[in-house]
Amino acid sequence: MHPDVEKILFSRVDIDNKVHELGDIISRDYAGQDLLMVGILKGAAVFMADLIRAMSIDVSIDFMALSSYGASSKSTGVVRILKDLDKSIENRHILIVEDIVDTGLTMTYLLKILKARNPASVRICTMLDKPSRRQAEVPVKYNGFTILDQFVVGYGLDYNEKYRYLPEIYVLKKEIYQVK
Ligand code: IMP
Ligand code: MG
Repeated sequence: MHPDVEKILFSRVDIDNKVHELGDIISRDYAGQDLLMVGILKGAAVFMADLIRAMSIDVSIDFMALSSYGASSKSTGVVRILKDLDKSIENRHILIVEDIVDTGLTMTYLLKILKARNPASVRICTMLDKPSRRQAEVPVKYNGFTILDQFVVGYGLDYNEKYRYLPEIYVLKKEIYQVK
């Protein structure tokens, strides 16, 4: 294990099973529909790559990159779009693919932005949900795992841009992210 992590929370097998379960449900729900899956960079890139390969219907993909002002472990709810979608989403079914919903402020803001573009529908799929810190109610339609209030890394999730490459999901040691 990486020396900065306290313990493993979800193994490769846990993740793989969950991704396939989600892929099956989402494929069934959107059967016969035109679905655009929108991955939120950079955290959701790894999850997105696995999730689309667990789908049994044809989907299109795109990515958005958002930046929330403030420290990397906190969210302010003010979101800046660093990379926008390539095409119009008018009348299309949109599934946002996110790594983790924490305070919910980022997703609340993004939902508002995307709904203003008149899609046929917008739903949220997140690998992890940390409901204990929620500040805004977010309608999460598809959730991988619900976790406690702990800082997790790996499988795309970072702390200060580190640990994204780790293949499993781990709890980061407190001494790494607490202010020195
Ligand atoms: P929020 O829901 O607006 O608070 O922000 C969610 C974003 O904060 C996620 O997309 C992550 O980038 C980041 N985040 C929140 N909790 C964690 C965590 O435990 N590990 C890594 N990133 C996190
Ligand atoms: Mg992040």
